[in-house]
Amino acid sequence: MKREEAEKLVMELRQKIEEHNYRYYVLDDPIISDAEFDALMRQLQEIEKKFPDLITPDSPTQRVGGQVQAGFAQVVHQIPMLSLDNALNLHELREFARRAQNLVPHAQLEYVVELKVDGLAVSLQYENGLFVRGATRGNGEVGEDITHNLRTVKSIPLRLREPVTVEVRGEVYMPRASFLQLNAEREKQGLPLFANPRNAAAGSLRQLDPKVAASRNLAMVTYALGASPDIKPATHYEALMTLKRLGLRITPQIEIFQSVEEVMAYCESWRERRHDLPFDIDGLVIKINDLAVQEKLGATSKSPRWAIAYKFPAEQAETRVKEISVQVGRIGTLTPIAELEPVLLAGTVVKRASLHNEDILREKDVRIGDYVIVQKAGDIIPEIVSVVTAKRTGEEKPFTMPAHCPACGSAVTRLPGEVAVRCLNANCPAQVLERIVHFASRNAMDIEGLGVAGVQQLLEAGLIADVADIYELPKKRDALLQLERKAEKSVENLLAAIEASKKRPLWRLLYGLGIRFVGERTAKLLADHFGSLDEILAAAPEELEQVPEIGPKIARSIYEFASLKESRELIKRLRKAGLNFVQRKTGTSSLPLQGKVFVLTGTLPTYSRDEATKLIEEAGGKVTGSVSKNTDYIVVGEKPGSKLAKAQNLGITVIDEAGLKELLAGTK
Ligand code: IVH
Repeated sequence: MKREEAEKLVMELRQKIEEHNYRYYVLDDPIISDAEFDALMRQLQEIEKKFPDLITPDSPTQRVGGQVQAGFAQVVHQIPMLSLDNALNLHELREFARRAQNLVPHAQLEYVVELKVDGLAVSLQYENGLFVRGATRGNGEVGEDITHNLRTVKSIPLRLREPVTVEVRGEVYMPRASFLQLNAEREKQGLPLFANPRNAAAGSLRQLDPKVAASRNLAMVTYALGASPDIKPATHYEALMTLKRLGLRITPQIEIFQSVEEVMAYCESWRERRHDLPFDIDGLVIKINDLAVQEKLGATSKSPRWAIAYKFPAEQAETRVKEISVQVGRIGTLTPIAELEPVLLAGTVVKRASLHNEDILREKDVRIGDYVIVQKAGDIIPEIVSVVTAKRTGEEKPFTMPAHCPACGSAVTRLPGEVAVRCLNANCPAQVLERIVHFASRNAMDIEGLGVAGVQQLLEAGLIADVADIYELPKKRDALLQLERKAEKSVENLLAAIEASKKRPLWRLLYGLGIRFVGERTAKLLADHFGSLDEILAAAPEELEQVPEIGPKIARSIYEFASLKESRELIKRLRKAGLNFVQRKTGTSSLPLQGKVFVLTGTLPTYSRDEATKLIEEAGGKVTGSVSKNTDYIVVGEKPGSKLAKAQNLGITVIDEAGLKELLAGTK
């Protein structure tokens, strides 16, 4: 094939593929089969392989860039990404409408109602039609650059159907079926499970390697325009139609109503129907349609006054308590668990519910054989609301907390002033398991592969007995390979994860040690204050209490941990294994722009180039003349040069002078 011929074919194929993508994702009206679509993609791939110079970043074959990122760059949102106020019932919805109407007495309010897709808010930046940058919401003002991952989301077009410069906002989510399949696979591999589709989507987008996101079936819907100076719709509905015209998927099932009553009836109609959707929604979003009215209403610092989220009440179901079992936690706390007849609740099957502790168990008077009402509140863990006493037959058996630990048989105690019944045997196998799982968990040392199933397997095989043994595992490669279900690849992954964990920040190690009352925040405060594990563990209780927010209870707990011979032995072994025991030097990094590399282009409205350079340097940053992958920010003024396009291609954060001022002030 000649080059000209290939070039023409490539163009045609891309256009066809884009058109079919649009029909499939946006119009929901495909006209070819998946197999036919795959054939087109393969054809394109083959030609691009022969003529690599024809590959462009927006080619549909280029979704996975292959490049692993070193970290996440920050992206300053030009317009803050606000959150929404909630209405939990008809009354609150009416209140919302009344407040709005009072502010615009003469306007005839019209409401657009959309599904509230339960995922993660993101912002997408398109320049002349090309997808150049995607970011998380972050704290609303500054998010993280996750372009590499968003490019892998098939419902995000790499090129719009018109060459416009727009910022769009929407939600990335994981369809329920994909979530269930992912968890089933992770369970097989002994990896920690995601609690819900939202966490799975978030976990996928938080990866530095885009291959992970590409392997997860993520999707996106858009619901708003961000900073888009060239597009001026009159209504929100018009904005949505513009998004659709540009080739973006919008939230399905959009309706317009003239009265709150109609809005409410419509919201109610989704309460049951929502489980028929292929994805989770946690409510509906009601927005005032007229954008001029929206502007008049404005926003508080947190949320707009022209929109509200209607949240469904927690769903409840009735089921029967088959048994009450007892779980032993990491510090020996015995937790009663109701084993339930499986019941479908909010789209998932519920089999267990926590009864928390002896007092709550007694207060709710839950007995074995009781019919109970279970509910899912915000998250996935269900709880027992009440007992259906009318259904009691007299056959129900009251439950008392055991006098001995179900895991190790030692006598349990309820310490004065505590609600928890505890097993005080530090070698109790259940505690050992939970301690190791906690140490390796995502918020502590983050060792993937050491979830409950993984740790249990290693304990049973006698390969580990405490957290320090984890670092002996590289010497036991052969034994690991003998383990059931452990393929070579998963052993490699595990050993790599263990090695990587040695460099975790001090606070993670401290938190991972599982000292009572030392949560993530306390661990961070202590690490910041003392700077090393040795100093924390050598501190007297009075010294520990010098740290703001650390009270006598926490101080005593740390001191007691540090005094135990077992703890000292463990710390010695962790030190020998080469774990990071010190806080990275913060000294100069308190400067707001420490280590950041800037490039300036164009004329800034108030600063001269020298002034801007000096300010950046005083704040710890550096200014260079040309854009490279080491550039953190490009500051753009009027008439920018070619540096801007280059920076955009590299996915570098673009800011203006106002953005620079905010960075300098350390407010971003
Ligand atoms: S509008 C300023 N529309 O809900 C208003 N948000 O609780 C911005 N969400 O952060 C949000 N579906 O992540 C809007 N159709 C929808 C939505 C939606 C889901 C999420 C979004 C937002 C959160 C607010």
